[in-house]
Amino acid sequence: MTSPYLFDVLIIGSGAAGLSAALQLPASTSIAVLSKGSLQEGSTRFAQGGIAAVLDNNDSIDAHISDTLNAGAGLCHKDTVRFTVERGKSSIDWLINQGVDFTRESDSERDFHLTREGGHSHRRIIHSADATGKAVSNSLVDQAQARKNLSLFEHRMAVNLIREPNLRSGRYRCTGAYIFNAETEEVEVFQARFVILATGGASKVYLYTSNPDGASGDGIAMAWRAGCRVTNMEFNQFHPTCLFHPQAKSFLITEALRGEGAKLLLPDGNRFMEKFDERGELAPRDIVARAIDHEMKRLGCDCLFLDISHKPREFITTHFPTVYQQCLAFGIDITTTAIPVVPAAHYTCGGIQTDLNGCTDLENLYAIGETSFTGLHGANRMASNSLLECFVFAEAAAIHIAGKMDSVDLPGKVRAWDESRVTDSDEDVVISHNWDELRRFMWDYVGIVRTDKRLQRARTRIGLLQKEIHEYYANYRISPDLLELRNLATVAALIITSALSRRESRGLHYTLDYPHAADLAKDTVLTP
Ligand code: FAD
Ligand code: SIN
Repeated sequence: MTSPYLFDVLIIGSGAAGLSAALQLPASTSIAVLSKGSLQEGSTRFAQGGIAAVLDNNDSIDAHISDTLNAGAGLCHKDTVRFTVERGKSSIDWLINQGVDFTRESDSERDFHLTREGGHSHRRIIHSADATGKAVSNSLVDQAQARKNLSLFEHRMAVNLIREPNLRSGRYRCTGAYIFNAETEEVEVFQARFVILATGGASKVYLYTSNPDGASGDGIAMAWRAGCRVTNMEFNQFHPTCLFHPQAKSFLITEALRGEGAKLLLPDGNRFMEKFDERGELAPRDIVARAIDHEMKRLGCDCLFLDISHKPREFITTHFPTVYQQCLAFGIDITTTAIPVVPAAHYTCGGIQTDLNGCTDLENLYAIGETSFTGLHGANRMASNSLLECFVFAEAAAIHIAGKMDSVDLPGKVRAWDESRVTDSDEDVVISHNWDELRRFMWDYVGIVRTDKRLQRARTRIGLLQKEIHEYYANYRISPDLLELRNLATVAALIITSALSRRESRGLHYTLDYPHAADLAKDTVLTP
């Protein structure tokens, strides 16, 4: 069959990466943008702190590069870091042109307020109060909705990528994807000359996370199944400060609070960060999260505290209105009281291996944003470098695709989705049970502090789960929950395999069995 959904470019994901790519492609290109929920349901909308870029005369490209390399603990790819940092200012100018309203200095109509976060040696985080993601997402969605060449599809979940032999190159090329339509519950075929994966991260693989529900690593799992290499999956970033409250599901307390002077406290009110790093609260995230985890385990307590109440009330409510309001809704007035906090899974540093154009191993398949591995983050992403990476690589991929458009044929015929051998499941409890089990053992055995024994336990469990999920997938009609579970299981297996193969501690991967960094820093590259 030839699909009625035929485009020049299929973009899977409508976050910062996906929408930026869509808006940077030529207006003559027909583009489909897919989101598995509503357009704004990914991580982008929840970003608080801001976007790192060199915007101040006292700052420099070299300083931003050096901070990124330091945070990345020897594993960043220097070419990628320079490529990204050098494009920071033009990305911000582009966002301003899209209508993003960044916070300005209180005494200036012209100058933007720049805040600081862990690992940065300068104030270089441009932001929209403490709701930068919302401002970015609103502007990009408004722009996208106004473009005639963009077709936006909500509640469409990509299941698998479609490949076909490319007679010109003798290799396989990507020509679309099977898409589950959550409204009709049918699987549709979307075909395109180029496919961009912009599906975000995989932090939902952990029980406690700052991420929204959809962060199930679908793009990584789909690319892996399609034959692409996946790199450095052991580096899962835990954000040090998520709100600890029984009713608060994954609410982040932005690092910018620490940038503006908030202190981390033990239950007895004493500070502790200086014991772990001379940069104190502004040490890179891996160090702060590990210090909190260490103190919580030492004292046997459920949370520690973050205190900004020494700052004037007006300063707090103006700079951090979202955090202020959200905490107040839980009965915590941050202008007078310290905030109970715990670390939670936050960012997937590894992902689908790409080059500087966002190209993956499969012809005409691109990966951008959190789903990708570009080499920017090394063993630990520096705060606010993630959104920057989304914009820089969205532009790079758009330029590359535009340059190749005329040389790529339309896709050929493709088989429709075959449901003839599956039935409706009568036991969905298997899916919810396995979801829960997977996320719990990943938290317990593959978390902030690892050992070989814990990782081996996790490997045994993921093997059993994958077998069960595979059988379920083969016999029963698919649903979004089953698809996400299958992808999470794939991603969990990739994380565990990568973690077991790294026999050293570096950045976010800390193991009691090999507590020191090896002399030579090497990526963990997995090949299907
Ligand atoms: P996302 O924004 O997550 O979008 C993913 C898209 O893919 C969604 O549209 C989703 O529906 C779609 N999708 C996924 N799977 C499928 C599928 N199978 N089929 C169809 N569609 C699919 N970074 C910073 O730099 N600065 C910050 O201040 C900051 N704060 C953060 C605060 C929070 C609470 C969180 C969670 C993250 C924060 N980050 C921050 C990280 C940053 O927000 C993300 O890395 C970034 O937004 C990822 O953008 P993305 O476009 O790659 O993916
Ligand atoms: C935060 O605001 O603390 C999150 C920043 C980030 O993840 O880069």
